Amino acid sequence: MADSNKTATLSFGDKTLELPILSPTAGPDVIDISKLYGQGGVFTHDPGFTSTSACESTITYIDGDKGELLHRGYPIDQLAAKSHYLEVCFLLLYGHLPTAAELEKFETTITHHTMLHEQMVNFFRGFRRDAPPMAIMVGVVGAMSAFYHDSTDISDPRQREIASHRLIAKMPTIAAWAFKYSVGQPFVYPRNDLDYASNFLRMCFAVPAEEYQVDPILARAMDRIFTLHADHEQNASTSTVRLASSSGANPFACIAAGIACLWGPSHGGANQACLEMLREIGTVDRIPEFIARAKDKNDPFRLMGFGHRVYKNFDPRATVMKQSADEVLDLLGVEDNPTLQVAKELEAAALADPYFAEKKLFPNVDFYSGIILEAMGFPTSMFTPIFALSRTVGWVSQWKEQLADPALKIGRPRQLYTGATLRDYVDVEDR
Ligand code: CMC
Repeated sequence: MADSNKTATLSFGDKTLELPILSPTAGPDVIDISKLYGQGGVFTHDPGFTSTSACESTITYIDGDKGELLHRGYPIDQLAAKSHYLEVCFLLLYGHLPTAAELEKFETTITHHTMLHEQMVNFFRGFRRDAPPMAIMVGVVGAMSAFYHDSTDISDPRQREIASHRLIAKMPTIAAWAFKYSVGQPFVYPRNDLDYASNFLRMCFAVPAEEYQVDPILARAMDRIFTLHADHEQNASTSTVRLASSSGANPFACIAAGIACLWGPSHGGANQACLEMLREIGTVDRIPEFIARAKDKNDPFRLMGFGHRVYKNFDPRATVMKQSADEVLDLLGVEDNPTLQVAKELEAAALADPYFAEKKLFPNVDFYSGIILEAMGFPTSMFTPIFALSRTVGWVSQWKEQLADPALKIGRPRQLYTGATLRDYVDVEDR
């Protein structure tokens, strides 16, 4: 972080404060208000953190107006075209693109951590047979703290490293087993001769009675979905992980908290909600009705897969995802998929509508990822678990970065209290 030597002057009442302005390497300047309460006796108020930087980070940068997403400086479209998920994981975790030797070592490490402690099978079996995979993931990832005690001492950098590797390596096994359990099929164990994406597909779709042949185009599309969701700076779930971790909680508990936050339909749950919405629309002729509902202030309905807190131009991940959707649908011969027809027409209708243009609402990554996942054979209940799997490396990288920061303090927001002021307790017979 560069001190800019600039200050902002804040005057209120009889006070005038000079607040330092910090200059980032990219993005808007930041006014440092950390001493505001001590010096001025006031708080700032920013529900939803729309104007608040909560941490210093070197991992991911988004320029929402330009539609730009950079991981450690590298644009997401270049990473999606030229790199692959595990290389991007290395980049996010360690800050540089790996040499061939570093990459090989990292891939070997991740591959050899993919198995789960066999007793964890009992956790899966404890869930109701129709439990949503997302519910299983929150529970099982939190339960990892009961199995991997040798990587929960957050003061030890080596243990932090091992926890990071375990989480990235085991998450596909956990997500695949959550799926298998929810459809009543036996668990398929990981195979070390397969790459990360192929291994996940096989653990989801192989059965003991029949081996699953991984199509390289589908494996590439799966890898791209992982890559495009790998990190997204200080979004709600990442901020949740950071807040949980700021108290010193163990890594598995922190990542379980991130998964819980991701679950909601305004965040990671949007891909599932989007496909359900496309199915509900059903046919192209019903699109105007749903667009009208999205625009109606008295109707809570929103077009799922549209809009973003930060992207006010286009979501660069959606552009790549759209290409992948075309490739996958070509391969699987489902060009006539009615859901895709509705998606394409809805996109065109919304983009041509002044309401969406004025509010800068563009299709986001979830608009297309759901279509690809459905074409691959995943039920909608697996969409958000796959997002969680992909985002694990982002959470883990941000968690590691925060713990290495000597300025780390427990996160503790303040509030604008509007409740009752001091009053005396009234005995029940007198109320
Ligand atoms: N459909 C219709 N109107 C919308 C939509 C939408 N999808 N999104 C925002 N608006 C309107 C909203 O009604 C508001 O109008 P007004 O100013 O008249 O009150 C205006 O646009 C601004 O909306 P906001 O809720 O203040 O914007 P936000 O930045 O707080 O919300 C969002 C961002 C993503 C939660 C929101 O756009 C939304 O709910 N989208 C649908 C859910 C979705 O696709 N989420 C996935 C996000 S990308 C994946 C991820 O990062 O998790």
